[in-house]
Amino acid sequence: MYDSLTRSMQGEIPKHIAIIMDGNGRWAVRQNKPRAFGHKAGVDALKTTIESCAAYGVEVLTVFAFSSENWRRPAKEVDVLMKLFMLTLKSQVRRLHKNNIRLKIIGDRFRFSEALQGKIKEAETLTHQNTGLTLIIAANYGGHWDVEQAAQKMFEHASSKDVPITTLELKDFLSTADVVVPDLFIRTGGEKRISNFLLWQIAYSELYFTDTLWPDFDKDALDSAIKCFSSRQRRFGQTSEQIDKSR
Ligand code: IPE
Ligand code: IPE
Ligand code: MG
Repeated sequence: MYDSLTRSMQGEIPKHIAIIMDGNGRWAVRQNKPRAFGHKAGVDALKTTIESCAAYGVEVLTVFAFSSENWRRPAKEVDVLMKLFMLTLKSQVRRLHKNNIRLKIIGDRFRFSEALQGKIKEAETLTHQNTGLTLIIAANYGGHWDVEQAAQKMFEHASSKDVPITTLELKDFLSTADVVVPDLFIRTGGEKRISNFLLWQIAYSELYFTDTLWPDFDKDALDSAIKCFSSRQRRFGQTSEQIDKSR
């Protein structure tokens, strides 16, 4: 389903949007509230973005919820984030399912509690066959981890199937192997870095950085990012002239 944004932009809607949802803590502190308050508001912002992406016909939305380095935060904050993850799964999965959304979690899930791992599996199984938006939540995810686990899997595959490793491709073993690579990469919160998010996958993504803190990232903010994306010429190594000719 496409709405007025698509028509008015007459541009391209990215097939895959990847977002570093940053700035929850600062958003809360600015209001003299505990950081947990910002994380909760962050979940609301995520709901809005999911709805918009589904409405625009985006195929894949990948969001960074917890990095492999975020365990270094104070234990109390880590605990809040784990509880919020569990609560959000419990309260939202049925709604996602109703909206034909396929949910996938990427990252090293074995560091999570057994209860959380169980809930993740349940959510993925329930929504597995859905054909609408694929929502990928990166949790205990790191780009380094992804490349390492892919290399390991590729090696195991080659040995167990007795095929030469040179016939295999790393991309087929990354945690995002079943989806297209991101077209648009967004980071909110003002920082201009990748923070170990999708390293291999963003080789040719269009990068978009905004100072907007994640809880304030609304439909208009997403529209601005998509508009900016659709105004760029993606050349993938070719010249402008080549791209213009092939249009
Ligand atoms: C992003 O917001 C959420 C997570 C990393 C879990 P932050 O918590 O990093 O917010 P800031 O960057 O401190 O404002
Ligand atoms: C990146 O944000 C991770 C998530 C948004 C989940 P951080 O706030 O952890 O990144 P740094 O530490 O500022 O690079
Ligand atoms: Mg941050």
